[in-house]
Amino acid sequence: MSPSFTRAYPFVMERGEGCWATDVDGNRFLDFTAGIAVVTTGHSHPKVVAAIEEQARRFIHMSGTDFYYSSEIELAERLEAKILPGTPAKVFFTNSGAEAIEGAMKLARFTTGRPSYIAFIGAFHGRTFGALSLTASKASQRRRFAPLLSSVFHAPFPTPARGVTTDETMARLEELFATVAPPESVAAVFVEPIQGEGGYLVPPDDFLPRLRELTLKHGILLVADEVQSGMGRTGHFLAVEHWGVEPDIVCLAKGIASGLPLGAFIARAEQMAWPPGSHGSTFGGNPVACAAGLATMDLLEDGLIENAARVGAVLQDGLREIAATHPQVTDVRGLGLMLALELKTPEHAAQLVQSAFERGLLLLTAGTRAVRISPALVLDSEEAATGLEIIASALD
Ligand SMILES: Cc1ncc(COP(=O)(O)O)c(C=O)c1O
Repeated sequence: MSPSFTRAYPFVMERGEGCWATDVDGNRFLDFTAGIAVVTTGHSHPKVVAAIEEQARRFIHMSGTDFYYSSEIELAERLEAKILPGTPAKVFFTNSGAEAIEGAMKLARFTTGRPSYIAFIGAFHGRTFGALSLTASKASQRRRFAPLLSSVFHAPFPTPARGVTTDETMARLEELFATVAPPESVAAVFVEPIQGEGGYLVPPDDFLPRLRELTLKHGILLVADEVQSGMGRTGHFLAVEHWGVEPDIVCLAKGIASGLPLGAFIARAEQMAWPPGSHGSTFGGNPVACAAGLATMDLLEDGLIENAARVGAVLQDGLREIAATHPQVTDVRGLGLMLALELKTPEHAAQLVQSAFERGLLLLTAGTRAVRISPALVLDSEEAATGLEIIASALD
């Protein structure tokens, strides 16, 4: 295996069920990672497994680029109804988050005829060359990969956790427009409504509405990267709904098919009007992945989004209680089941992840010194309490 991976501890998975994962030695762990915020409906949800089996028995692949099949069309219709209700939309299915971002970058250029992009410091949009040009989370992700796309500009991401205000970010955007990136040359602004890999950073409430206003004023497309924050994780189907903002393009992946590789970007029909041949993918929208996506949508609409909001609030309260008695915790933040604890130093964060592992809880870091909590949306209050006990004990 490539040594480029960043495994923090030796967890070797044998099987999983809901929020629980068992390793090859038979040890059972509470999983607060959900495979990096992917298994929305828990490990191997019986309804998702049944949908996969049913589709796989009929056929596994045909390619939506050249042919038709119902699971892909139905999932596109379900996403359209959820993301742009009442507005005709178009959907392009991919195999990953990075591919959804790449596609959105191409679409934004095609639609606007403009060359440039703006993204934010701390952003993570993926690792392919286009997406990596937007990514500005860790130097290790970009080191020795230049030259990247030349027409990408970055502004600071506003968040109380870093002491950056919306006013400062807006001033920086105006400065970019006035100096290196005239607004009429900017195709799109890419933004994670809550930064994920960058540290689970929540922006001030006025940021996304003001960004929407600014982009509309200049005819710049607003692309919401909801790869990590979407699919109900924050207690709404999309995180942008917390701020009542409607982006031009939405990118999804991770949780969309409960673990099968699938991504998508969705735009209003008039903005995705590129001709046949301009974009395609052999595997994107694979029928088995789309069947898993449909079962995932059913489960989200049957109560998992509300569950994420409800149990997420309980979990966040518990984390705040822990922070009050553990001075090495410097911040608690997030929405729904997209939560983080920030520690004093990267070493404190790594130690917490390690000792939680030794106590039967799977965690991952985010940013430099945050520990993210991104369990499956099926987490119940009892499981949340178990996780909190382990976190408190690991910090002790
Ligand atoms: C917000 C966001 N965008 C894009 C990506 C890239 O997704 P993938 O790893 O599926 O290419 C990620 C992955 O962590 C992400 O968190």
